[in-house]
Amino acid sequence: MSARPAQVTTAGQLALELPFELPTIHLAPEWKDQQRLWGHTFHPMCSYLASFPASLTHALIARYSRPGDVVIDPFSGRGTTPLQACAEGRIGVGNDLNPFAHLLTAAKVQPATRAQAVTRLAQLRLAWNADSTGWLALGNRVAADPRAADALVPVAGSGGSSADGVEAVPVEVALAFHPRTLGQLLFVRSALRLDDRTDRFLAAALTGILHGKSASYLSELMPNTFSMAPRYVRDFAARTDFSSPERDVFDGLAKKLDRLFRQAPPTSEGIALLGDARDLAPRVQSALEDRGRADRARLVVTSPPYLRVVKYGYYNWLRTWLLGFDSRAIDAALDDAHHREPYLAFMRDVLAGLRPVLADDAVVVLVIGDVETDRGRKIRGGMDLAARVWEAAAAPEGYRLAGVAIDDVAPNRKMTKLWGDEAGRATKTDRILVLGATEAGRRRALAGAALDVDWTWPPRALRSL
Ligand SMILES: C[S@@+](CC[C@H](N)C(=O)[O-])C[C@H]1O[C@@H](n2cnc3c(N)ncnc32)[C@H](O)[C@@H]1O
Repeated sequence: MSARPAQVTTAGQLALELPFELPTIHLAPEWKDQQRLWGHTFHPMCSYLASFPASLTHALIARYSRPGDVVIDPFSGRGTTPLQACAEGRIGVGNDLNPFAHLLTAAKVQPATRAQAVTRLAQLRLAWNADSTGWLALGNRVAADPRAADALVPVAGSGGSSADGVEAVPVEVALAFHPRTLGQLLFVRSALRLDDRTDRFLAAALTGILHGKSASYLSELMPNTFSMAPRYVRDFAARTDFSSPERDVFDGLAKKLDRLFRQAPPTSEGIALLGDARDLAPRVQSALEDRGRADRARLVVTSPPYLRVVKYGYYNWLRTWLLGFDSRAIDAALDDAHHREPYLAFMRDVLAGLRPVLADDAVVVLVIGDVETDRGRKIRGGMDLAARVWEAAAAPEGYRLAGVAIDDVAPNRKMTKLWGDEAGRATKTDRILVLGATEAGRRRALAGAALDVDWTWPPRALRSL
């Protein structure tokens, strides 16, 4: 490992936006050699666009933190960093503004036990057996005509009561499932309460089997990665005369739990926060205080939202329907729609806001995709967004640069490949920007880069934790 000195960047160069290079930090890219599902068995609970592999987070957690340390991801998505941190005996803290991401993160870092999950599922199955006639009839009515007056359904989390209100099922949702599966889903959706740890775990697991192209999924209408556009779904179903095969929700969920609990849940419990990354520090501090800990984080590993690439609500509309979330409101709230300058200001606010919870020798790792268009225009050679983030967001906030490592992303790992024209905005390369909160952090980042990492899973040293 070594760091090349940063090239001097003149004001003229910045004005012309000529590319300038950051010093390289040599992190052996062994995370790419690991199996796709390397890491804890909770990781693949549900697919999530633009998530990074658990092996990448391990490469950083192992080098830059010790058991007991606090490891934060302000944009935790499906919870990869905090789960992997918890699985390695750290206190993993995840935050996201997307309630779907928060649900996945919380389910992983504050999970149900296997016994709790299996018992609750058995309870739901019994309740279904006792009460299925009405729900099956409702499923049939919705499937026949979701707009009919007698096809209104109880809202998510209502416990089956219409006192909390009733709602129509979107046409595309009705299309996606066999009427019996739909009846079961309507029942489970109304029964699960997302503020309960066990129910939340079951709901998160259910989102993971909602749609996909094999018999383990409840609908075969769409791939597992994301929801197809609703209009495409309607056209496709009409054109192909699609009818979904019957799938049993309880059997599917039982098998999913078997897969998730192939490993015991992490013994270290983490923290999942819902909110804007810019005001994370006070929320982290109070959550840590509630746990009786005054620690500050020694490591941040995160992949901030990209520029106008992913609409997490829209691309997950079937899952958000199941959970009772409003996909439009999610997209309106998230920061995936910035142009470049506001994006850099946003990142500066995030990095400034993080400072109070960082230990002096904290290492901050930002995984940032290159961007090939800005305001719809192609940028020749792409934009080295990591360099811009360093220059306009991290340096002015007093962070110290350890270097940048380049991660050439395997084409099949990028969701944007799946979205045709959207691929114009895709990133072929991720840059891993490694910063120190102070000079001590920068030195620790440089020294840690050379360390060997144990890739056995679970790591021998941690099996007793
Ligand atoms: C690239 S994804 C992170 C994926 C994550 N690394 C994983 O492995 O799942 C970026 C995340 O930023 C979240 N996000 C967007 N704007 C946000 C904001 N202002 N505050 C917190 N999270 C935000 C999105 O919901 C999304 O989950």
